[in-house]
Amino acid sequence: MGKLDGKVAVVTGAASGIGEATARLFYAEGASVVLSDIQDERGAAIAAELGERAAYCRADVTQESDIAALVDFAVARFGALDVMYNNAGAQGVSAPIAETPAEGFDATVALLLRSVFLGMKHAARVMLPRHTGNIISTASIAGLRTGNAPHIYSACKAAVIHLTRSVAMELGEQGIRVNCVCPGFIATGIFGSAFGLPPDAARALAPLMAPMQVQAQPLRHAGQPVDVAQAVLWLASDDARFVNGHALVVDGGLIAGRSWTEYQHMRESLTKGIQAALGQGGS
Ligand SMILES: NC(=O)c1ccc[n+]([C@@H]2O[C@H](COP(=O)([O-])OP(=O)(O)OC[C@H]3O[C@@H](n4cnc5c(N)ncnc54)[C@H](O)[C@@H]3O)[C@@H](O)[C@H]2O)c1
Repeated sequence: MGKLDGKVAVVTGAASGIGEATARLFYAEGASVVLSDIQDERGAAIAAELGERAAYCRADVTQESDIAALVDFAVARFGALDVMYNNAGAQGVSAPIAETPAEGFDATVALLLRSVFLGMKHAARVMLPRHTGNIISTASIAGLRTGNAPHIYSACKAAVIHLTRSVAMELGEQGIRVNCVCPGFIATGIFGSAFGLPPDAARALAPLMAPMQVQAQPLRHAGQPVDVAQAVLWLASDDARFVNGHALVVDGGLIAGRSWTEYQHMRESLTKGIQAALGQGGS
């Protein structure tokens, strides 16, 4: 028995990375899945590979008409919408604040925040009459602390977390749960894309990111898309039936605090400093 047997899910950004892993896992757990992206060839190929409970529907998440049509497609094709996963994204504009173009700000907000609002809005439109459903969005640890991503990305992800909580207050009363995940560093094509690589090359770079990631977190192995997918599956399943308005961190402990190794170095240098001070003070 699958955790999502009989459910219908939409996954945006499903042609790559976290979205692809989640679409595959949802399908394996019994859901009918509408994969959506702007990488049509790859998205359609994954849907075809999965089988008859999967379909591809193009949607640029910055366009309200595309999101509305995506939700309607899921309902028309599979009869309902139980799980909406707002996941598509990219790094967006990256520059010191004095050099950030306003157009870049607007485009990044459209991709990372307005898109999530649109996904919530149109999912709610079809979920409210049924008084059931599940909306999940991909935020980031960058929305919880600074220093992990560019300014506007970080601000958008913080806003996704707060929008999640706010909308959860409204929709929870109607039987619809609203949550988000906050991944840490996950080996996907997002980093290569940020350097301007085309999608295939960006995806090929992802495994090479692993050694760069393991230094900063207590769990000394890279986060993989499926690690986030498992968390999203839990939120989408009835196992999380009492979880609402939650931002689930999936980061190998990266933002739990200062690393143990760093703490030991700090303690060592503090000890030396205290000993020197005591020596100098003649105590
Ligand atoms: N990889 C990480 O370390 C990490 C960490 C925290 C949060 N995230 C978030 O996870 C989500 C997925 O990213 P990923 O790491 O899997 O990257 P990815 O590049 O592998 O996947 C992103 C997908 O979104 C699609 N996309 C981009 N713009 C789109 C648009 N306008 N409309 C529709 N689809 C679009 C891309 O084509 C791609 O398939 C993003 O929201 C990202 O911000 C990633």
